[in-house]
This record gives sequence, structure tokens and C-alpha cells, in this order.
Amino acid sequence: MHKGLVWQCFRLLFTCALTTIPLMTFAIDIDAHSAAKPEEAIIKHLSLDMDIDFSKRIITATAKYRAEFFTASREIILDTRDLEIISVQSPLGTALKYSLGADVPFLGKALSIEVDSSSNEFLINYRTTQASAALQWLEPSQTGDGKSPFVFTQGQAILSRTWIPVQDSPGIRFTWEATVHVPAEFMAVMSGKNVQERNETGTYSCRMELPVPAYLIALAAGDIQFQPIGSRCGVYAEPGMLPKAAKEFADMEKMLLAAEQLYGPYAWGRYDVIVLPASFPFGGMENPRLTFATPTIIAGDGSLTALIAHELAHSWSGNLVTNSNWDDFWLNEGFTVYFERRIMEALYGPSYADMLEVLGYKDLQETLADLGANNADTQLKLKLVGRDPDDGMTDIAYEKGCFLLVYLENQVGRETFDSFLNRYFKEFAFKGITTERFLQYLKSRNGLKLSPEALAVVEKWIYIPGLPAECKQPVSERFNKVEALVPRLLAGEKAARNETKTWVTHEWLHFIRSLPETLEQSKATSLDKQYGFSQSGNSEIRFAWLSYRLNRGDASVMTSADAFLGAVGRRKFVLPLYKAMMKQDAMKASAKSIYAKHRNGYHAVTRQSIDELMEKP
Ligand code: BES
Ligand code: ZN
Repeated sequence: MHKGLVWQCFRLLFTCALTTIPLMTFAIDIDAHSAAKPEEAIIKHLSLDMDIDFSKRIITATAKYRAEFFTASREIILDTRDLEIISVQSPLGTALKYSLGADVPFLGKALSIEVDSSSNEFLINYRTTQASAALQWLEPSQTGDGKSPFVFTQGQAILSRTWIPVQDSPGIRFTWEATVHVPAEFMAVMSGKNVQERNETGTYSCRMELPVPAYLIALAAGDIQFQPIGSRCGVYAEPGMLPKAAKEFADMEKMLLAAEQLYGPYAWGRYDVIVLPASFPFGGMENPRLTFATPTIIAGDGSLTALIAHELAHSWSGNLVTNSNWDDFWLNEGFTVYFERRIMEALYGPSYADMLEVLGYKDLQETLADLGANNADTQLKLKLVGRDPDDGMTDIAYEKGCFLLVYLENQVGRETFDSFLNRYFKEFAFKGITTERFLQYLKSRNGLKLSPEALAVVEKWIYIPGLPAECKQPVSERFNKVEALVPRLLAGEKAARNETKTWVTHEWLHFIRSLPETLEQSKATSLDKQYGFSQSGNSEIRFAWLSYRLNRGDASVMTSADAFLGAVGRRKFVLPLYKAMMKQDAMKASAKSIYAKHRNGYHAVTRQSIDELMEKP
């Protein structure tokens, strides 16, 4: 047996002896979406030197790796997709033998490198290409301030390999550092320790001293400035957005304290947010130390900041304890939604969290209806082999996952459940987690001591499609009041209108979602006139209204929809609106021409989903 392997086995036995977990749970998790062979070699540290060329829209980089090898062959396999590999070298500059595998859809090409026995380090010189899907290069006109170009990356789920050759598997963690060169008038920040001030050289350094998976490496560069919010929190944004963003996120530090009180110390040092241009394809992305966020959460009244609580919560569920592969995505997102609602409850009280829970439950019901309750994609444990993991990332992981934790909480009581979660985050910090390992932990002496009946419910929740009958339907008193008001408001009652004066965003969202299936056009138009839904500066309200009307074939909102779809690239908003239009024969042509007009402004992630929709027969 090879020395490395012997050492591995010894290390494994030693680790297992120190923990309560049986040996078998330390088997290496298979990740169908990465070519890496972590049992043979893994990256331990990555050091990047990147040159960002805004005019050519290319990043040219040298990546230096330190790896650990467990076999005599000293071969390491990285994932790459749509990258141009220029050369692979030893630290002394001698060329190393490498080969690129076949180009597999979504996965790209495996890069195998034979690393010299003289050093555990090697270097890759490479360039990104116009097809590198993680990157979105923006014209000045696509930014908030409209003055300078901008670039940002989105790594999750398997896009980091399109801008860095890397073992792109969530079960493989390494530390990293980077030096980024941008033109002097720009600033570059990444998902690590950043500076807060611009400098004249245009060279920025960033480092991540804690081991993270590749999908959590991210970069943004453009006309960016920083403003502090508390001692550990702050916000980066384009100058025109900065004061608004700082005001919107005023409670960030409180969220961080509440999160720590719930599930233990924040491991990452600072917690900052960067507000990106509106084409960012997600609401938020939990890049460590620096959440990437859409400007569509800036509502002016802080009412959409549950998203910040969500991304912050990922600092525990996801970034500390990470799904080992994308079939176990619910362990990232379900835990995070549960945690997010607990943070919101701590800050704004149970009635606020109840509203979020009911909205989430409705989303879940819609997703179940949409996918069909027998669809295997409605299981928590997914089977994504051979597919783009993005296809499985639905509300199921988020909401069905969250409601499983709510079920567990109800079984054992909040105090017991919270201390279990504290143990769980400690036990699995900086490790990968699978559904099976979670179940094993749940059943272990550190677990929850559930009855066999309750355990059977949990397994059903995880491995069977649909929602178990044991899922308790959440209730919101505030929403019950909204529902009671719907007929009175539709009848134009003045006293009813007065009662809406205290409503917050969520009550309006629930109101729109509670409107009758069919509503006379004239009634809809007058409601819209009265409350300004289709012109609302609150993106969630505007989206809810447009979605309600388009799904019912109301072409009168088309101008507003067109403007919204041109201004925003967040997939959660744009995809359902195009879907609603494509469902109506009379709107198909408009959907296609509106998409043709705005397609270039969307990030590859959003584009891919809408392309698929448009291609459907
Ligand atoms: N990690 C996700 C975003 C994501 C998921 C990116 C899958 C790529 C693949 C992030 O934490 C998230 O869930 N964002 C949500 C917001 C949240 C409040 C539900 C979003 O973007 O809408
Ligand atoms: Zn999330």
C-alpha cells in the first residue's frame, strides 16, 4: 500500500476514534457533477493572480495550487468549462504533462495534470472565454449609475469551473488568496477578506483563510464603494446606491447578533453585503464574508431584508456545514430558510415570521402543483446525476426542507431542537454533509431521540415525493385579517381601505395572492389605479401583480411587464413572467419579442432557463 494511503487510513481511524460517528460515514462522497477524484488528490490552497480586461471581456490569470496526493501516480483532476488553458507548469517553470477530457454538457472538460514529485505545487496559466457562464460583463448602461462597466461572477452550483480551473465539488474545501488587477478607476472585491478603500494602483488583494468549496469563490469589479453599518457589517455598492443600501440594511448587525445567539459564534469575521446591478440572476448569494445581492430588495422600507437574514444564515448552514453534493441541496437551503425565519422572528416578532412562513407554504404548494406531487424532484433527496444540478434547485429544497425542521422542532420542543442545531453546526463545521449522514446524526446519541413513528415521518419527508400529511399548515393572524378584507376592498368599502394603512409589504403580497381566480378587467384596473401595484417600486409587489394579471391573460399590464423585464434579471421574477405569457396563445408573440429585446442583458443562468422555456414546443 502506498504511504499516502496508509496515512489516510490512519488519519481516518484516528478522526473516527475521536468522534462518535462510525467509520463508514467517512467514506468519500461521490459527486456526479465533478470529475475530481478526491480520494487521489485534493487542492489544499489556491492562489490566483487575475487581470481583468473590461474591453475584451476576458480574465487572464495564473492560478497556483498546493495539493495533497494520496496515490503514487500524483495525478490531479480539475474541472474546467469554456476556459482556455494556456500552460501548466511546475513552480520552477517546467512544463507539466496535462490533458483535457471530452466536453460534457454542463460539466465541461476534466483537466488531468501529472504533478512532478519534486513539489506539491503547480501553476496553470489560463483565460476565460466569451462562453464563461459564471461571468457577466455589463455595459455602463446596465449598471445602476450608468457610468462604468461592471463584472461579477456567480459560482453556485457548478459555474466556478467556467472562470477558474478547480475541483468544483461542494465536498472539497481549500483556502485561497487572490490578487486582482483592474483599471485604476475600478475596485475589485471577492468573497474573502477585502479592503474597504479604493487605491490608485487598481490592484486589490483578497484572501480566505478558512477552507471553502469552489462554488463560494466570487468576484465583483466596477465602480464600487464601501459604507460601514456596524462594527462587523457594511455594504459595498455603486456610489448612487450606497446610501439607500446602507439605510435599507440598518438592522444587519442586529441580525448577526440574533443569529449568533441562536446557533453559535459567527465563524467568518466580517459580514458585508454587495448590492450588484439589477441583472444579478439571484436574490442573493451567500458568498462568504460578502453576500452578493440584487438591488430589487431595496424597497425603501427594509421590508425585503429577510433575504439578508437568509444569506447570513448560510454562514452556518451551507458555508460551514456544506452539502457534499447537489443531491443534498436541501441541507443547505432548507436549514437556511428555517434559520432565516428564526432570525426574522427574533428581530420583528412571531407575527412577522408567521407571514413569511405562510408565504413560503404557498410557494411550496404552487411548486408541488407545478411539478406534480409524484415527481421525484419533489423529494428532498434528489437524483441529479446526468442532469444540470440547476434543474433540481426548486422551492422543494427550501420550503419542504424548512417545514421538515419545523416538524422536528414541534416534536421535541424549541429548546431541545435549538441545542441540537448548535451541536450539529459544531460537529459538521468545515465538513460536507449528506442526507444519510444527517439521518445518522439525528439517530445518534447526539440526535433528537425521536420515536420510531416520527423517524418514519422524517424518512418519508426525505425520500418520498409530495408533502407528508404530518406537515402542519402554518397560520398567520395578520393574513387572516387580510383575507377577511378582500371582499370588502373589492366592494370599494371606505372603512376597509383605512384598515390597509398599516399593511406592510407581506400583507400586500398576500392580498394580491388572495384575489379571486377571475376578476373583471375593470375591477383589476381600478385596483391597480388605486394602489399602484404595476408601477410599484417594491419589486415583490410589482412582480406579484404582474404575475397575477399575466396568468389571467390581461394584456393591459404588458407595458409594465416589458419595462420590468428590461430592468431586472433576477430569475425568480423574470422566468415566471415569461412562463405566464407563454401559457397564453395571445401573448406568445409578445413574450418572444420582449425576450429578444432583453436577452442580452440577462446573466447566463437566467438566459439558460428562459431559452429552455422558449424552445419548449
Ligand atoms: N444559494 C442561493 C442561491 C442559489 C441557489 C444560487 C442555487 C445558485 C443555485 C441563495 O442563498 C438563495 O437561496 N437565494 C434566494 C433568496 C432566498 C431569500 C430564498 C434567491 O436568490 O431568491
Ligand atoms: Zn439560500
